[in-house]
Order: sequence, then C-alpha cells, then structure tokens
Amino acid sequence: MNPGYMPKYSIGFTSLLDEVSSVPLSVTGIIPPGLVGTMYRIGPGRFEIGGHTVGHWLDGFALLSSVTFGPHGVTCSNRFLASSWYHRALLEDALPAGGFDSPSVHWRSHLSDDNTNMNIMHWRNEFEALGDTPQSILIDPMTLATIRTRRWAHLHRCCASSPHPVFDRLTGERFDLSLCNGDPAAYVITVTSPEGRTRRLCTVPSSRLGYMHSFSVTPRWVVLVEGPFTAYPRSLSSSRRPYLRNYVWDAGRGSRVLVVDRRTGALKTTLSTRPLFTLHHINAWDDGDQIIVDLAAYADPSILDALAFDHGEVPAGDFPAPLATRLVIDVEHKRVVCSPLRCPPGEFCMIDARFSTRPHTILFAAGPTRTGEPIDRLCRSDVMTGRFIEWSSDNCFPGAPVFVPAAADGPEGEGWLLAIVLDVLAKRSFVLILDAATMTEQARAWLPCALPFGLHALFVPEEATT
Ligand SMILES: [Fe+2]
Repeated sequence: MNPGYMPKYSIGFTSLLDEVSSVPLSVTGIIPPGLVGTMYRIGPGRFEIGGHTVGHWLDGFALLSSVTFGPHGVTCSNRFLASSWYHRALLEDALPAGGFDSPSVHWRSHLSDDNTNMNIMHWRNEFEALGDTPQSILIDPMTLATIRTRRWAHLHRCCASSPHPVFDRLTGERFDLSLCNGDPAAYVITVTSPEGRTRRLCTVPSSRLGYMHSFSVTPRWVVLVEGPFTAYPRSLSSSRRPYLRNYVWDAGRGSRVLVVDRRTGALKTTLSTRPLFTLHHINAWDDGDQIIVDLAAYADPSILDALAFDHGEVPAGDFPAPLATRLVIDVEHKRVVCSPLRCPPGEFCMIDARFSTRPHTILFAAGPTRTGEPIDRLCRSDVMTGRFIEWSSDNCFPGAPVFVPAAADGPEGEGWLLAIVLDVLAKRSFVLILDAATMTEQARAWLPCALPFGLHALFVPEEATT
C-alpha cells in the first residue's frame, strides 16, 4: 500500500464523535408493519485520543448504536460505552495500556480492558456488551447509558473470555468460556441458570491456550475448537507485548477439537483436524454419536493483522474471508471430517435462531464480492443445494446481518434481514431492510451520519423489552 493512500471505504474506519439520542430517521421504501422493535449494533467508534491513533481496529472505543422501529416511525441513537478504559483514556488524554494490539509506553494487563466493543447480548432482561476479557458492561436499552461494569468474581484467575456466550433456548441456561492462566492453565466453562446461579462446569487443562472467540453447545456436548494460534498461558497476563502478539500461528500443530460432556463436565475426547482459524461458530447439533459443528473457518489468522492500523493508517485491503465449514465429529470412532458448506465466503454468519442446536438449511452472511476486498454484499444461501441469493449496492458496505422471523411458526428463513450499511458516496449509513426469503429491498432508514464499521448486531422485539 502506498503511504497516505486512502481507500474509498476509509470513512468506515473514521471516528464518529457525535452522540445522538432518539433522532427521527427519513425512510425510503416501506418499513414492514410487523417489524416492531430495536436493532442494536456495537463496534469500535473512536480511534484517536491525545493525538495518538489506536494500533488496531479492535482497540477503537466501544460505540453502541440502536435503531428503533415503532408505530410512529424509526429513530436512532448512538452512545459511547462509559467503560473504565474509556474514562482512563479521557482522563489521561492518551491510549490506555493493556489494549488488544496497541503498543504502549506503560504496561498493564489486557485484563484491565473493559472496552467491550465486540458483542451485545440480551438475556434475563439484561443488556450486556462483551469483549474478550472476563468483564462486561451492562447497558440501559432505552438510553444506551452504561449502568456498570460487571466483573465475574468466579473468573478471578482468568485472563480472557469469549465474547460469545451460548444460550440454550430450551433450558434457559447460559454457557461461558474463559481462559485461565493459573496453575494449571486451562479452559474454564461456566453455566449460569435462568435464575442467575453460576457454576463451573469444567476446567480443561492445556499447556498452551488458543485464541478462542466462540464455541458450541449441543444438547449433549460442549465443543471447543482450538486452532494452532496459541499462547503460553502466563504470557497472556504478564508479557509486555500487546495481547494479540502473544499468540503464535503454528499450522503444523493442526487444530484440536475438545468435546466435553455437558451433563458431567468430563472431557470426553480430544481429536485432531486440519489447521484452521475461526472466530465464529455458527450452529451445532447432535446426530446420534456424531456432533455436527458449523463454523466460519479462515486458512490462518491474517484477518487480525489485516485490521491493524499501520502507523495510523486505516486498514486497506487483503481482507481474507472465511468459508462456512462443517465439522462432523464422530465421538465413538474418534474422527473429525472437515468440509466446506455450499455457500460463498462470508463473515457474521447467521441462521434462523429457531434452528439453533438442530439442522439448518438457510445461512445468511456478509461477504466480499471479490477476494481480499471488504464486505460489500449480503448473501442468503441454501447450504443443501448451494443456491444463493445476494444483495449489493454500488459504494455500499453492509455490516453484520440480523434475521428477524416474520412469524414464530413460519418457515425457516422467512422474515426480514436487517443490516447497517455504510454508503461511502453519500457519506451516510442506513439501516437496510430486506425480505429475507428473496433478499429484495423493502426499505432504507437513513441515519444522520456515517457510522463506522461495526461488529455484532442484535434485534430485540418490542414485547421483549416492555
Ligand atoms: Fe465475534
């Protein structure tokens, strides 16, 4: 890349400092009358402070946005999370030490980083923003105000956590995965009951710890997929390198698949498969003595390097896209078969959530039209037939799609697909509403600003918050 070169989508990596509250949006097209509720999206939103630029996109300060669809129109809000990390940055007018991948003259463990810009969840009437440390931020869903930082007391020896807890829709339980660098170093899985009681399900010792962004839970098993991107446990809390730089890719190690009995917490088996790097598991279910795990697999972790701010310059190309991949894990015969699903490459894969922990056919994802380019289209794929339908629009870059079923008992994948899209020519973002069955455009609700690229999104129907 030439120094000073600015790709046309660079506005997606540009800070948005203005916070707004319940601003009415102009709409083109027709919002489906049945779409009533709020879409939330979180991501990095501010990249400079005190004259310094963060070293990595994932060190941008967490910005939460919401778009509410109601009988009186569409409104939007956005607000920075009042994390202690952000407070410290404002107080010191400098980037705090201990970020994801930003060098610093001072040293502080990544554990102190509560800049939870990766994911947003709604569970037990709580809205919670999550990052990759064992702390999260509770949010007021109406005002987006920060209520408080939650530090999990039972994870006091853990140095990292998955920002993707798994929720069992049948039992109401929540599963969390953390990395413990105590003695022994281990993966720790906890279960929280619908009443809010948390217990440790298991501790799986491991001499090295993988970069574990998500995992799977089926009715019988908990499945961890550890790619060969691992770190010495103690380095995660005591090395002076940025957190990410403690991890080393060693393809020769292959990947480990750890299968834990969900009922007893016992490690049933540890299997091997080809080297892969994954951020997101998609869905998993039991099939007799087999476990099926679908995940988005990269060839290596270069996506993380691609999102670095090189000497203050925004990421500009060579963005690898993952392939949705199916692991068929034969527990009894101790075998794993790994093969790609029939769909185009893409991130932020999403199924119709009513099909979680059972076989799904429809997969939504956001991916690039051309290899190495940023995400510029949304796809709906039938993974059985390989048929896919896409939406794209000139100069438009969509973020994570969210599927909203039109009816509780409707067919799989029938409803609406929502995504926040950045139109780099208009220098504005809009919420796109697609008919999820046909991927045809229903409406755009125009935000008053260009929202920086984000991470995960969530739709909460109105009845769930009232
Ligand atoms: Fe994620």
